[in-house]
Amino acid sequence: MRKVITYGSFDLFHEGHYQLLRRAKELGDYLIVGVTTEHYDEYRGKLNVMDSLMERIENVKRTGFVDEIIIEDHIGQKLEDIQKYQVDVFTVGSDWTGSFDWLKDYCEVIYLERTKNVSSTMLRALNYNILKMGIIGTGRIAHRFYPEAKYVSGVNMEGVYNPHLESAIAYKEKFGLKFGTDRMEEFWGQIDAVYIASPHETHTAYIRQALKNGKHVLCEKPMALSGKEAEELYALASEKGCILMEAIKTAYCPGFQQLLGIARSGVIGAVRDVEAAFTKLESPDSRELTDLNYGGSFLELASYPLLAIIKLLGTGYGDLRFETIHDERGIDLYTKAYFRYKNSLATAKTGLGVKSEGELIISGTKGYIFVPAPWWKTQQIEVRYENPGQNEKFFYKFLGDGLRYEISDFVAAVNGNEKKEHKLKMEDSVALAKVMERYIFEERKREKT
Ligand code: CTP
Repeated sequence: MRKVITYGSFDLFHEGHYQLLRRAKELGDYLIVGVTTEHYDEYRGKLNVMDSLMERIENVKRTGFVDEIIIEDHIGQKLEDIQKYQVDVFTVGSDWTGSFDWLKDYCEVIYLERTKNVSSTMLRALNYNILKMGIIGTGRIAHRFYPEAKYVSGVNMEGVYNPHLESAIAYKEKFGLKFGTDRMEEFWGQIDAVYIASPHETHTAYIRQALKNGKHVLCEKPMALSGKEAEELYALASEKGCILMEAIKTAYCPGFQQLLGIARSGVIGAVRDVEAAFTKLESPDSRELTDLNYGGSFLELASYPLLAIIKLLGTGYGDLRFETIHDERGIDLYTKAYFRYKNSLATAKTGLGVKSEGELIISGTKGYIFVPAPWWKTQQIEVRYENPGQNEKFFYKFLGDGLRYEISDFVAAVNGNEKKEHKLKMEDSVALAKVMERYIFEERKREKT
């Protein structure tokens, strides 16, 4: 019996897939098809697969050409499979010509002519109206956003708004956008969605305007500085039928998702403590260290550690208190927030004038998870036990600056794919805003005394 194997995502199953499977089957007597998992596709940088793994498997099965379906979930698996299933022929479309010649040491390798003028990428573009996106704000993060958006299909960056026209024009010129403006009406008129990367305290006003104009919103963290405001904004978004998403890149990256899965799987027992830190030394004349109202380490950086705490322990904490070291003008150089949950504790540590190790430690009753700095770009996770012989390490991709993951989820959400919404739910985002609100309240109280 001649065994043939082929692999693919088979997203939005199309004629090209059908013809490839038909011809693959003709190459032998028994056809095995490896369908990629979402996780593996993400790892390969394919971020916009629309159909679920089960749907993709069903579609492959329905062709009637396939004798066995397997799941492809890691690099290096093809060789394992070829040996395990004693495969005679490896085949794949001609777009891969040459890429798998190295398998010729193990079996025959055949590249089949690709069907012309159809691909999942093309169909995704047709399914997704290309989202016209604009940016508000032209600071550091906005400069990272544009190059990252290039990696996501289904979105086009159209233009930029800044109340200072020169800044808008400079950004437009740098990235070759269609327009740069200081006029809000002109801005709303040319876009479907907006990424807000302006100073923290301006977020909510811009979000409100965007939603009132029927625009979807992806907003930098902290999205809101009060729980009530966050709730109102989500209510407005739902009333207007728009997506509102808080852009905390960690929440959307593959490693952090895996981390949550491991922590909740029970391998470290019940989680009893979460310690998360993010510090970044800034020059004393930076905006972060000179803005007396909204500067300081907690407002600037706490979204990351708070995300870890809330995703791991939930939003139902009991006691919350803060300790801050201020400079002579009262700016928060270093803050620790202490959370008390019913059966667990958590600490968020932020610093702009104090440098510390940017690690995340999740302590449990059977072991702990250690995520080394920079844990917010979750690339490496270590599960450690009393007996170090059982320790395990896991590695994940975090491509580029990592904003592509949130952009990809945003585009998917706008296109009606809400499957990924669990990553940062409205409740999470509201809870984050409530912590910020408490912090501001405590600080204002301290200033008065
Ligand atoms: N294929 C083909 N003809 C096409 C499209 C795909 O023969 N027009 C083949 C690919 O070469 C591969 C298999 O179908 O062997 C599964 O490919 P997959 O990556 O799932 O499909 P694409 O449509 O190429 O997907 P994408 O656009 O996401 O890369």
